[in-house]
Amino acid sequence: MDVMATPTVKEGLTLPNARAMASDAPGFLLETARRVGPFFRLGAGPLTLPVVAEPELLQHVFQKNSKAYGRGAAYDIYRPLLGNGLPVSDPPVWLYRRRTMQPAFHRGKGPDWVVTIRDATRPHLDALAAGQALEARPFFMNVTRDIIMAALFSSASVETAGLQETFTSVDAFVGSFGMSPVRLPLWVPTPTNRRFMAAIRRIDELLLGLIERRRADPSPPADLLTTLIRAKDPETGTSLTDVELRDEVVNLFIAGHETTASLLAWCVVALTRWPEARARAQAEVDNVLQGAEPTAERVERLDWLHATVREVLRYFPPAWLQAREVFEADTLRDVTLAPKDRVLLVPYVTHHRADLWDEPERFDPSRFLSERSIDAATWKYRYLPFGAGPHVCIGNHFAVLEAVTVLAMLFQKGHLEAKAPEAERPTMGLALMPSNGVPATFVPRAVKSD
Ligand code: HEM
Repeated sequence: MDVMATPTVKEGLTLPNARAMASDAPGFLLETARRVGPFFRLGAGPLTLPVVAEPELLQHVFQKNSKAYGRGAAYDIYRPLLGNGLPVSDPPVWLYRRRTMQPAFHRGKGPDWVVTIRDATRPHLDALAAGQALEARPFFMNVTRDIIMAALFSSASVETAGLQETFTSVDAFVGSFGMSPVRLPLWVPTPTNRRFMAAIRRIDELLLGLIERRRADPSPPADLLTTLIRAKDPETGTSLTDVELRDEVVNLFIAGHETTASLLAWCVVALTRWPEARARAQAEVDNVLQGAEPTAERVERLDWLHATVREVLRYFPPAWLQAREVFEADTLRDVTLAPKDRVLLVPYVTHHRADLWDEPERFDPSRFLSERSIDAATWKYRYLPFGAGPHVCIGNHFAVLEAVTVLAMLFQKGHLEAKAPEAERPTMGLALMPSNGVPATFVPRAVKSD
């Protein structure tokens, strides 16, 4: 049988690849995949970069032969901030840390998480006034930042107040990670880099102080920091050192709120564009919560809202692309890969393929009504909002619970109506973000007259 050669998409004269990637990478990769197929090589100057949106090949890289691929050197310039945290490390460092941290994210923690999420969200929703104009993305950044701070550190202290302030200043810098093709190393003393390095020093000082006090506290609060301090590698019995804890906390902070804020902002876009889906979600919230506060048990029964969040994760996946460095020579179809080559894995394209989804451009939460699992195997590598294989998002259950709980609380009060939802294009930041930040208006629930 003849095997078709993998196409190479060369620099075009009218729309060079580099320019198209810079202005609308998701749209460009989707359009190219529709034209030439879901596995192609993208010409980028002297290099060609394999782009993968084919389930079988995604499974190969993410899972079956995952040892041949890793994060590699791509994150090295951010090490002063990120250290060797899970999202940026490779085995052997990654392996024992993942083993040690995994139990802290078990979905059985749901009841505690809902209380944390609820308490951190309430003040933001209580402050909304009828007709208030806001931008949904920054609004949800504030909500999810407070949630992850509460999940990590629970009680307020001098250190957590300082961390809150410093982490907020780091957000702007981190938001630009994905957008800048060239970034000067952090040791180059540009004004931005100097401010950023000062923030990192402050984070180190505050976090290491907090960890030291926590270790000495005979009855520490039951939050993620305490859980991680007590966690032991099930194979060796070793715990994380102070510096390892510092790295993981910083990475959890960054990985744990930016993506969820984007997801919630996309929910506002989607539910303004498709208001029947919102009306049904709001009716479900009324019916299941009956005006009461959300609990894990009640949130679990919000089937339509779960399906809606899953459909938004398909349509606008915040983690739309993952890059891998080749560690061991490998072959993808007819493409031979050598160590140090890079590969782009693009769930965004897979999620929009007409041969894998019935009318992929139709927003339809009912696709997910009978299937709650976020296990990649169930979806045969065509649905990958949280990645797959050994590096699958450790916070996936937390993230879904967070989005559903925040939306349920919002719908009890009203909803956010995006002003120009059609104008929001998927834009690359650290996460796939709506391009205009989603200007919106808060519309309260109509008061019942009876
Ligand atoms: C909608 C929200 C979220 C999305 C879309 C998302 C997506 C992802 C994806 C795709 C990966 C895999 C990256 C790769 O393969 O290179 C990942 C990894 C990770 N995520 Fe999430 N994430 C979300 C929320 C969270 C939350 C709430 C937390 C923590 C509380 C978290 C913590 C992590 C960590 C630590 C990793 C690294 C895992 C490892 O390599 O072992 N994420 N996430």
